[in-house]
Amino acid sequence: MLEICELSIDYPGRGRALDSVSLTVMPRTLTCIVGANGAGKTSLMRAISGVQRPSVGAIKLDGKDITRWSTARRVRAGIVLVPEGRGVLPRMTVEDNLRLVGGDSADVLHRFPNLATRLRVPASNLSGGEQQMLAIARALMLRPSYLLLDEPSMGLSPALCDQVFRLIAELRADGITILLVEQNAVKALSMSDSSLVLETGRNVLFGRGPELLENQAVIDAYLGGPMTAS
Ligand SMILES: Nc1ncnc2c1ncn2[C@@H]1O[C@H](COP(=O)(O)OP(=O)(O)O)[C@@H](O)[C@H]1O
Ligand SMILES: [Mg+2]
Repeated sequence: MLEICELSIDYPGRGRALDSVSLTVMPRTLTCIVGANGAGKTSLMRAISGVQRPSVGAIKLDGKDITRWSTARRVRAGIVLVPEGRGVLPRMTVEDNLRLVGGDSADVLHRFPNLATRLRVPASNLSGGEQQMLAIARALMLRPSYLLLDEPSMGLSPALCDQVFRLIAELRADGITILLVEQNAVKALSMSDSSLVLETGRNVLFGRGPELLENQAVIDAYLGGPMTAS
């Protein structure tokens, strides 16, 4: 279980970007975080993965306070972030991008037939969707129990978005706990076990399952008015 306890983040010169956000993530669930640009979603994900130090609050893993742990230690404990913008190294081949994290890529490549046939290709030659798959593949090599995905469908065509969402559903079915930040709120909320809406750094709504899809404030703010079939 991952617990975020009244977490706040301040950036020098900018002030509070995250304001006392709390969240409990149960194992083997998918939690989705939605919110407008600048709401603090990435800051929260970076704090959980140890890239960003919170100013106040705590992060606990199975009851242990990990707030001061390094990113590397969190990765060893199973918390792995796929950052916004993917973090794939474009000039390196697919294979070398995977090798960066060590371990055996054969374990994960069965999920990524498109990557498996393009191991010697520079990552920059891959489509946006394939680069996102590469970033997720690299994260999976670290055998995460908690996988943090920051806007994995950003910039992808609808067909590639569907591929990414199918993969997320598979990973969750395999028992990986997923924390998902998404602009594609309908898709993310409809597959989530719980969800959180952030607004200017605050947790303004929490929902179980896809119930926020029915919430009028969420519909107005994030789903583009009355919901249409997607
Ligand atoms: N490294 C940083 N330094 C200063 N301000 C930042 C930094 N990262 C994010 N911010 C600010 O914090 C707020 C939240 O940003 P972010 O967490 O990226 O939101 P989101 O991912 O929801 O778009 C924004 O106002 C952003 O400008
Ligand atoms: Mg962001």
